[in-house]
Amino acid sequence: MSDHATSSAASASVPLIPHTAVVPAAGLGTRFLPATKTVPKELLPVVDTPGIELVAEEAKSAGAERLLIVTSPGKDGVVAHFVEDLVLEHTLSSRGKEAMLAKVRNAPSLLEVASVVQDKPLGLGHAIGCVEADLADDEDAIAVLLPDDLVLPGGVLGRMAQARARFGGSVLCAIEVPDEKISAYGVFDVTEADPASPDVKRVRGMVEKPARQDAPSNLAAAGRYILDRKIFDALRETEPGAGGELQITDAIALLIEQGEPVHVVVHTGSRHDLGNPGGYLKAAVDFALDRDDYGPDLRSWLVERLADS
Ligand code: G1P
Repeated sequence: MSDHATSSAASASVPLIPHTAVVPAAGLGTRFLPATKTVPKELLPVVDTPGIELVAEEAKSAGAERLLIVTSPGKDGVVAHFVEDLVLEHTLSSRGKEAMLAKVRNAPSLLEVASVVQDKPLGLGHAIGCVEADLADDEDAIAVLLPDDLVLPGGVLGRMAQARARFGGSVLCAIEVPDEKISAYGVFDVTEADPASPDVKRVRGMVEKPARQDAPSNLAAAGRYILDRKIFDALRETEPGAGGELQITDAIALLIEQGEPVHVVVHTGSRHDLGNPGGYLKAAVDFALDRDDYGPDLRSWLVERLADS
């Protein structure tokens, strides 16, 4: 039995998020070309910190212990970001740059890091399927965090783990999305789970990128999943779907058809979509405005700039 299983048993009353947080980072980043010709999208900085480091921090705060990055050929920099750079650390240290040193040490110090390679871009479901062989036998669920999505404030993974402890199965994070944007998402068909917990809903079905008129609700998947290990069997039975890709949404829909419990926690805070330049810019401005070093100057410049426009 692994240490993880032992600690799960010791603190059975506290819902733990899964040991392994999977971060799919194998995409081509075409919406960010030409920048992503050589720089992986996941390393583009939100002010000065790569989006994937923010997501790793979220996984760590929720209690995950291992970060499993799904990467693709040519994107070695994503994993390298989580490896100590002793030469750089020595240089910063010898120059007395302690604040910089702390920033550089942050990513490697968060979690145990491993990676698997997705050879071909066959979809998010396929990317998640690639991690199965890398899990220990006693890991009965995984957390999945899409690095395109920043879900703020943190804490939603913890609420999802509580819902899994109560209802079993798989639990996803949902956000409300307006009609005109709904066809960009995986969309839920939901029903009440318990009147006393209105933010948790039972999922009756799920569809990836439906036409607006076919969307079963305005509740969309927001890039955070706690998936029961049964997802891997469901993925094996799933055919390519929207965009010709193997969709995790379709495998989740299959789990529901098979009678497995699937719930959502409805997140009502904010969320940024780092997956396109427009959403990425909003995230960068939002984060910068909250910083003491850049916030005040950016705020006054924005006020001036907007008055001019
Ligand atoms: C993916 C998922 C989709 C989800 C979305 C959230 O889509 O397939 O179900 O709603 O992330 O960002 P993508 O944005 O990669 O097309």
